[in-house]
Amino acid sequence: MRYESQRIAWWFFATCMLLFGLQIVYGFIMAFAHTGHDGLHAFIPFHAARATHTNLLVMWLLCGFMGSAYFIIPEECETELVWPWLAKLQLAALVAVGVTAIIGFHFNWWEGRKFLEIPRPLDYLVVIDVLAFIANIGMTVWRGRRLTTTSMVLFFGLLMAALLYLPGMIPTNNQTIDSYWRWWVVHLWVEGVWELIMGGILAFLLIKLTGVDREVIEKWLYVIVGFTFLSGILGTGHHYYWIGTPRYWLVVGGVFSALEPVAFLGMAIYAISMARRGGRNHPNRVALQWSIGCAVMSFVGAGFLGFAHTLPQVNLYTHGTLITAMHGHMAFWGAYAMLVLAMIAYTLPLLTGRNLYDSTASVFAFWTANIGMIAMTLAFAVAGITQVVLERRLGMDFLQVQTEIQVHFWGLILAASLFTLGILAFIWVFIRSGWPVARVSAKGDASDVSALPLADQAVQGA
Ligand code: HEM
Ligand code: HEM
Ligand SMILES: [Fe+2]
Repeated sequence: MRYESQRIAWWFFATCMLLFGLQIVYGFIMAFAHTGHDGLHAFIPFHAARATHTNLLVMWLLCGFMGSAYFIIPEECETELVWPWLAKLQLAALVAVGVTAIIGFHFNWWEGRKFLEIPRPLDYLVVIDVLAFIANIGMTVWRGRRLTTTSMVLFFGLLMAALLYLPGMIPTNNQTIDSYWRWWVVHLWVEGVWELIMGGILAFLLIKLTGVDREVIEKWLYVIVGFTFLSGILGTGHHYYWIGTPRYWLVVGGVFSALEPVAFLGMAIYAISMARRGGRNHPNRVALQWSIGCAVMSFVGAGFLGFAHTLPQVNLYTHGTLITAMHGHMAFWGAYAMLVLAMIAYTLPLLTGRNLYDSTASVFAFWTANIGMIAMTLAFAVAGITQVVLERRLGMDFLQVQTEIQVHFWGLILAASLFTLGILAFIWVFIRSGWPVARVSAKGDASDVSALPLADQAVQGA
């Protein structure tokens, strides 16, 4: 850590840990409800649990992206953050809005639009908050001493993510038009501009962890960004098959979304080849594992499992079933959750001055969470395929099918318990690492032993 203001990232990451933990609790509430055990229904009905689960996810990921930007931008631009106080204020405000929204869901104060449930008045506050964030990092980039491709890709990804929140606020009482704009937010985020954020953060991590030249890493970043936009923008059409939009979307959506996995495959090959190429043996191996894991698992979850239901001939049967949940879990996990966790794993020793990357808990967290998530995805897949066959092919009633597939949710609960153990280990490492320290190292690298407190220097030197 070279700059004092980078320490702010820790507060964003701590918020991530808190919200992620809560997200999992709501996941279990829904999983039990799916087995027929919906004891909390009077207080937390399924729709409220679902909106809370997914909004907490989006919130902690956004907090993670913001924290990452507050760490990366000063370092890349070689300057302190211009307004550190604004970053703190902006985090506090974001948490306040988020908590209000979540409490609101439990009292039926919501918009009922999947992923965009936050009530409209709060949307305006989110917009102001995000503008403050963009202004803060934008001014830092502007005043910085160095302009790198990594920081530009990250900055434009974040700026466009902020702008793309706006189409979701276009007022209309037409269901089709509402759905049309909703996908500009949901799809163009995860399959468009968030991929830029992912590209920027991964490039930063790979530069730091592999030792490969910045020029090489950033050159490939351009190629991946190009592929993302080529396929992702018109790929939005895979959500326009059945919502009342013109028929040509069947062809446009089918063709372009089928090309989307190429960008994710590119990212996976890129991360692996950079790691192989880099001769440097960075001591924080687990951070590199999370980084490469992110690129690989995003290909599996987004690219491969996305492709599995993206053609209209398949989507006709799978649309809105648990097949979507199967893909949604692995895609969000691989691409964005693992990305934030990679960033936390890399920065934590630098922010706190304590190295726990070699600890059993760190390694356990990586493997257990990933194996757990693969098992969860399989459980959703089995439930989803059964649902598609019974409901869509055999024409069985929706609720009857839900009873038939209850058993698969016990499998989900088992898998999710394993996953949760991994995440608890991750949170444990976070807590054990302690508070952020005021000390700033000259080199800004974990391999720089002088940056660490004496006790840890001894451990690392041993
Ligand atoms: C990291 C990237 C991705 C994430 C996080 C992600 C996540 C999601 C989520 C959460 C949904 C449900 C959205 C909703 O119903 O409101 C969804 C739907 C969908 N995704 Fe993805 N996805 C990603 C990439 C992809 C890719 C690359 C493809 C295609 C190759 C794809 C194909 C689809 C399709 C076809 C649907 C609609 C499912 C339905 O009809 O119910 N996704 N995705
Ligand atoms: C202990 C862990 C978890 C459990 C038990 C769990 C369970 C569930 C359940 C039961 C649903 C509702 C499916 C339905 O509509 O019927 C759901 C939705 C969802 N969960 Fe989780 N979840 C967990 C963790 C996660 C994590 C870690 C992520 C992201 C990284 C995630 C992302 C999502 C998304 C995106 C949806 C909406 C999917 C869709 O639109 O179809 N969940 N989850
Ligand atoms: Fe999409």
